[in-house]
Amino acid sequence: MEPPLHPTELPRHLAVIMDGNGRWAQARGLTRSQGHTAGTTAARAFVARCRELGIGHVTLYAFSRENWGRPKDEVESLFELMRRFLDKELDTLLAQDIRLNVLGDMDALPLLTRKALAHTVARTAKGRAMVLNLALNYSGRDEIVRAARRMVQDGLAPAQITEQALAERLYTAGQPDPDLIIRTSGELRLSNYLLFQCAYSELYFTPTLWPDFDAAELDKALADYATRKRRFGKTAEQIGPTP
Ligand code: IPE
Ligand code: IPE
Ligand code: MG
Repeated sequence: MEPPLHPTELPRHLAVIMDGNGRWAQARGLTRSQGHTAGTTAARAFVARCRELGIGHVTLYAFSRENWGRPKDEVESLFELMRRFLDKELDTLLAQDIRLNVLGDMDALPLLTRKALAHTVARTAKGRAMVLNLALNYSGRDEIVRAARRMVQDGLAPAQITEQALAERLYTAGQPDPDLIIRTSGELRLSNYLLFQCAYSELYFTPTLWPDFDAAELDKALADYATRKRRFGKTAEQIGPTP
């Protein structure tokens, strides 16, 4: 498929809340786990399409800190799926020159998942074409609290506590803020996602359930993003004509 947009109209950082696997499965009489498996297939295609388009930073919300509250067998199957996904994807990530990065508290994850993550992160460390962030056991509020704690540990004086100093201690340190956040499944909320980084992100909500979010859906979201007029607090006149 041809890239629909000029590179300057593409987000530098695209973040997605992959929601609706459960409802997708339910509508088909399948188990929630089967919904998550279908979600993984969609995630794989999504990453490949972003890479093809040349988007430099992609973030996938795979498991929130709050998702620990789900039934134990669903949580276990999600981590097992994650581990298998990482094993299977390593060669593709290397071939596509993609670097894997984790956003979230890895310490609390099951040992095998942690090992698979550490292995994939280390093996793909030289990837230059794209950073693929997996938000796993992630909480935006906790990320900010941790960054604050680290500023104290680093001995920063009050005047040294700046937005930049805090941003440098987030999981996304060194990466641009998300230009576009996509959420599938019709929910109109952020669910504790990238709370510091989303200050000026454009938001795109679609009723499409995540396993159905294909390349055509992504192209539609990107085409919508390209029409957005980002003002960053200025007046429309200061920004110039709408694209
Ligand atoms: C998103 O799908 C995947 C995760 C949260 C891990 P859901 O499992 O939340 O699907 P719904 O919202 O129940 O349909
Ligand atoms: C957000 O989806 C987290 C992920 C997609 C991993 P949820 O389904 O957990 O969000 P809520 O509970 O509907 O806000
Ligand atoms: Mg959900």
